[in-house]
Amino acid sequence: MNNKGKFIVFEGIDGSGKSTISKMLHEKINMEITRSYYTFEPTDSPIGSVIRNILNRRIKTDEKTIAALFLADRLDHIQNESNGILNFLNDGINVISDRYYYSSYAYHVPHISLDKVIEMNALCAAILRPDIVFYLDVSVSESLKRISKNRNFNDFYETELKITQARDNYLRAIEKEGKKDHVVIINANRDIEDIFNEIWNHVLDLFKEKSASNHSSKP
Ligand code: ADP
Ligand code: TYD
Repeated sequence: MNNKGKFIVFEGIDGSGKSTISKMLHEKINMEITRSYYTFEPTDSPIGSVIRNILNRRIKTDEKTIAALFLADRLDHIQNESNGILNFLNDGINVISDRYYYSSYAYHVPHISLDKVIEMNALCAAILRPDIVFYLDVSVSESLKRISKNRNFNDFYETELKITQARDNYLRAIEKEGKKDHVVIINANRDIEDIFNEIWNHVLDLFKEKSASNHSSKP
């Protein structure tokens, strides 16, 4: 009988609502279905902390090294002996992750080809593919509106260019790889409640599939 937890991933550009919606889902699964663990990338491991120091410009390095660090962070996120995702899934706990390898497809592609980034991340896909990926698709203008409420932009145009590139790369990657990972594109320009209800229906279907497969595997 398959008692493994489900691995649910949220992807999207900054301000798409990943953090808000993934935490809501984590709480609702815990309350209404079964145990759930919430996690994110870059992680808060030692490798994740090197990445954060690069993102906030305390450490300088080149873009290929950054892509390799995100890959190392992800491999550790999956396999770490004490708090790796696989431990939870094998214990029957559902895992919700704010970002996974589609973030690499979106953010490293200006510097490395999409095929190469997919090839690097094949190491992760071989170990753990998501059961479902929710790509929260928000327009660049809505993303900028939401994040400008919380942060000060040093360089508005640089931010806009990066977000536009990331959104284009996400959509290109989903077209190429999306079927392998059960990627669902969600219109995230709407109210939080509408977005959440649509996602919740997909999640209920996912758990129905699970109980149907458990049932059919009984002798
Ligand atoms: P992300 O994790 O994708 O960067 P967040 O969940 O942190 O996005 O949301 C960024 C900001 O936008 C937060 O202030 C959040 O409250 C707000 N927000 C998130 N989703 C929506 C939505 N659907 N409509 C309006 N504001 C939203
Ligand atoms: P983010 O989710 O914004 O973290 P926080 O809310 O803590 O700042 O992620 C930080 C940045 O990392 C974001 O701009 C996307 C980038 N990123 C990559 O470039 N590659 C990756 O593989 C991942 C997971 C994230």
